[in-house]
Amino acid sequence: MNTAPTKVAIVGAGKGGIALLELLHQIPDVEIVGITDKDPTALGLKRARDLNVQVTERVQDLVQNHGVNLIMDVTGDPSMGSLIQAMKRPGSEVLSGATTRLVWNLVQHQSKLEAELFQADKLAGLGSFAAGIAHDINNPLQLILGLAENLTDEQDLDIVHEQARDITEAVKRTSALCRDLTSYARRDGAGEPVPVNLNLKMDEALKIARYAVTLQDITVVKHYAEDAMVIGNPDELLHVFVNLITNAVQAIKDRGTLTLRTGVGPEGGVVASVSDTGCGIPKEAFSKIFEPLYTTKPPGKGTGLGLYNVMSVISKMEGHICVESDVGVGSTFRIEFPQVQPTMPGAAL
Ligand SMILES: Nc1ncnc2c1ncn2[C@@H]1O[C@H](COP(=O)(O)OP(=O)(O)O)[C@@H](O)[C@H]1O
Ligand SMILES: [Mg+2]
Repeated sequence: MNTAPTKVAIVGAGKGGIALLELLHQIPDVEIVGITDKDPTALGLKRARDLNVQVTERVQDLVQNHGVNLIMDVTGDPSMGSLIQAMKRPGSEVLSGATTRLVWNLVQHQSKLEAELFQADKLAGLGSFAAGIAHDINNPLQLILGLAENLTDEQDLDIVHEQARDITEAVKRTSALCRDLTSYARRDGAGEPVPVNLNLKMDEALKIARYAVTLQDITVVKHYAEDAMVIGNPDELLHVFVNLITNAVQAIKDRGTLTLRTGVGPEGGVVASVSDTGCGIPKEAFSKIFEPLYTTKPPGKGTGLGLYNVMSVISKMEGHICVESDVGVGSTFRIEFPQVQPTMPGAAL
């Protein structure tokens, strides 16, 4: 069915307005015509500008806009509903009071569920990391034990110093590992998007994925563009690549190649891809793999939440993800990020 897009005007740019902006701008059949608030410093107006949504100064100008067919009042001001009713054009409908509150509750509920799913996926992943982590902690521990035993009888001060230095290094390596994992496992703050270097993020993700899947017989090839910067949440992007890399490695049965790429896309935005020479995905599964809980893996290996979460993060960033795959040959997941404004300040994470 091909329906004309719903053209929405949002009145109120506080919490409710922001939630509606975040939700509606991801829905293809909805066009946000504009947003307004009597307070020019309202946070939602800034977010609207970031999303290229028009900001209108006067309520009247927005609700009388020709294109608008749905006006959503999230001001919480009891008199606003009747004011809008009086001003609006005949063809447009108004949602206000209890109805917008209901929509707002649904939006809140949806974003809470998404955050829970994201976290559930990460924690389920950490379960399968246990063996890898135990191995990586045990190695330096054995080394420390050996050195410490030697030290008890060692008389030569130079050797004592050298072994003490080796112990310090081994402890540092172990705590770096613990730091990586705790930062991966922590719940993401809903921080402002910042510049992120995708090459570093992919390398970090590879390090973490190594605990979940064995990369022993896998050749890792990297083709990185020099300046692969995007604007986003670093923790979410890390999780995106951990998921794609884990999937790729799980798809390779014995030996094969994992290729990580970053580059510039045809539209000028950054492109990142993760390719494998694994089992491939049958054409009829293409539409299902991004659905929540779709998995072909046995319990303990997959949750079916990985690609769903990847898709949520990428659509929130207004990027695109696509997959090319041939059964028995391999798969490529390719992400196109929107172009970064060159004026963006801040350090890369
Ligand atoms: N690189 C890949 N190669 C082959 N199949 C894949 C690949 N990535 C994803 N899939 C398929 O998509 C399904 C869903 O992936 P995902 O959402 O990450 O869930 P999970 O990995 O927990 O099963 C997988 O179970 C698998 O069948
Ligand atoms: Mg997965």
